[in-house]
Amino acid sequence: MTLSVSGGHGAVERINRFLRRIITGRYPHQQQQENNHPKQNSKRFEQENTKTQQQKTNKTIQADDRRTPHPKSVKPRRLAVSGRCRKLRLSEENRQRMASSGEEVSNKQLIFRDYVTGFPQESDMYVTTGTVKLKVSEDSNGVLLKNLYLSCDPYMRILMKKQEGVGGFSSYTPGSPLTGFGVSKVLDSRNPEFKEGDLVWGITGWEEYSLITNPQVLFKILHTDVPLSYYTGILGMPGLTAYAGFYEVSSPKKGENVFISAASGAVGQLVGQFAKPMGCYVVGSAGSKDKVDLLKNKLGFDEAFNYKEEHDLDAALKRCFPEGIDIYFENVGGKMLDAVLLNMRPHGRIAVCGMISQYNLDQPEGVHNLMSIIYKRVRLEGFGAPDYFPQHPKFLDIVLPYIREGKIKYIEDIVEGLEKGPGAFIGLFKGQNVGKQVVVVARE
Ligand SMILES: NC(=O)c1ccc[n+]([C@@H]2O[C@H](COP(=O)([O-])OP(=O)(O)OC[C@H]3O[C@@H](n4cnc5c(N)ncnc54)[C@H](OP(=O)(O)O)[C@@H]3O)[C@@H](O)[C@H]2O)c1
Repeated sequence: MTLSVSGGHGAVERINRFLRRIITGRYPHQQQQENNHPKQNSKRFEQENTKTQQQKTNKTIQADDRRTPHPKSVKPRRLAVSGRCRKLRLSEENRQRMASSGEEVSNKQLIFRDYVTGFPQESDMYVTTGTVKLKVSEDSNGVLLKNLYLSCDPYMRILMKKQEGVGGFSSYTPGSPLTGFGVSKVLDSRNPEFKEGDLVWGITGWEEYSLITNPQVLFKILHTDVPLSYYTGILGMPGLTAYAGFYEVSSPKKGENVFISAASGAVGQLVGQFAKPMGCYVVGSAGSKDKVDLLKNKLGFDEAFNYKEEHDLDAALKRCFPEGIDIYFENVGGKMLDAVLLNMRPHGRIAVCGMISQYNLDQPEGVHNLMSIIYKRVRLEGFGAPDYFPQHPKFLDIVLPYIREGKIKYIEDIVEGLEKGPGAFIGLFKGQNVGKQVVVVARE
């Protein structure tokens, strides 16, 4: 499978390599983790002796992991940090000097403790401090990143389960930093596609500095007249998800009836705003009165309801859509999907983006009204954002002007500091976040 996109041959190659990985069931960062996972790959680990991101940034933890491949409980520990490192509050000038000399600095990291069942807790993650060299070794093809903004995404909960290759995902490795989408600055690079000073978005570690040895899911940020944090949301993976899920998967037509669940979140808020200019009638569900107000009074939804206060979701949908739903943008699954199935119009489309209500369940709930798919000739289609990464430049061409001209509103929920990461992440599953949940590691 090959793809052609604007953005240079190198970018196309990287995306194609990434897609091949997806097809073979491995995302690059997860493959990196698998390479690191001592139990699964100890032989390869020894044979290749390849140093990857976590090995280099978190040496002591890796060493412990090898001794205890499946720690039931990996205790939080402080790695030895020299007094000199502790004092480091780097000015830009100092940092550049240290980068060029390859000095070691402290590296705060958020570590995944162990596989999670049920509702995730803050204690499933812990902060520790390792060290990192501010230089990429000469024999590497990697980039060294200073992480600025990290994205809290529901799919990360799926990676906390112990499971193999579900939907191309592999689990996080206990004792290693979490990984996810973020915005970072390149401090050093041995990769021809990146240079010192570049700003990038893509997969990185939940830590201050990340050495990405296989930078296939890093994309250069070329437009910096908008807030950089937007590349964790509207201009990054969630924005692309909303765009592709609505325009490509839902096949919208002017004036159709559109329903969006988790409508005030990172993805949902955008889907509604993409649908409105097409003359669609747009309704969203969300989990609080404030979110409902936001949808109706700020984000331009025609109607919204608090699903937590509705005893009968079928009745709520019939109230909002007396003539039925043409497009359901599915973010939550479970009981909402069942109720929606009863309210679809003939030839309706359901774009299955996510099912957050199921992520913490050991046994997924059953769906009862699937026969509606036949009766109403409904098309129900799942999709994944990575499938659309090659379209990102085109997506930016459309969305950046919307932002610059104030034609789209975008809500972020920002917490400061890596230490706030666990609370912010588990907040997604309590509906704590209003808009896109972002963690600031550093502002520059
Ligand atoms: N297919 C893809 O490539 C892709 C990419 C990005 C996201 N997604 C999926 O899209 C969905 C939305 O993601 P997002 O990034 O926009 O997250 P988000 O909406 O910013 O945050 C998650 C929201 O889900 C709601 N929620 C949590 N638990 C729930 C439950 N049990 N039942 C119903 N609602 C619940 C909460 O809002 P309330 O207050 O409204 O309950 C929470 O704020 C998720 O399912 C995610 O996995 C898929």
